[in-house]
Amino acid sequence: MIYKFEPSTMATGLDSLDHQHENLFELSNRMETLAQGDLDHIAVERALVALRNYGLAHFVHEERMMDVYICPLAKANKDAHGLFVEKTKEWFRRLGECGSDLEIKSLLFEVNKFVGEWLTKHICRVDVSLKPCIQNVQKEAK
Ligand SMILES: [Fe+2]
Ligand SMILES: [Fe+2]
Repeated sequence: MIYKFEPSTMATGLDSLDHQHENLFELSNRMETLAQGDLDHIAVERALVALRNYGLAHFVHEERMMDVYICPLAKANKDAHGLFVEKTKEWFRRLGECGSDLEIKSLLFEVNKFVGEWLTKHICRVDVSLKPCIQNVQKEAK
């Protein structure tokens, strides 16, 4: 399934974070594209590495912003990111254990579904809590 960044419900108030979220959806959707047709094993490995690395860079940036804007969900955000990182480790382990292209494709569909749904829920429930915090700081600065 193709998942999409929806500015109306997912905007955080920071373009840098919104842009990263948009890219994360694209990296997730790449899993589904790779699972269709002949399997390119190197491309699969690269795509998983890209998803993990980009995710890690995004989490560092976002956690920093939540600290800067004193967001009440900063701790919940960090905890949720930690669980996501654990999940990426599991995917790498399972990729190494796959015995056929069919198993790899099934894993790719699973990763796409997990990341797409995780991102949608997490952004809408947690990440967007940054928006009012940024607005408060901007109001105080006036
Ligand atoms: Fe987050
Ligand atoms: Fe995020």
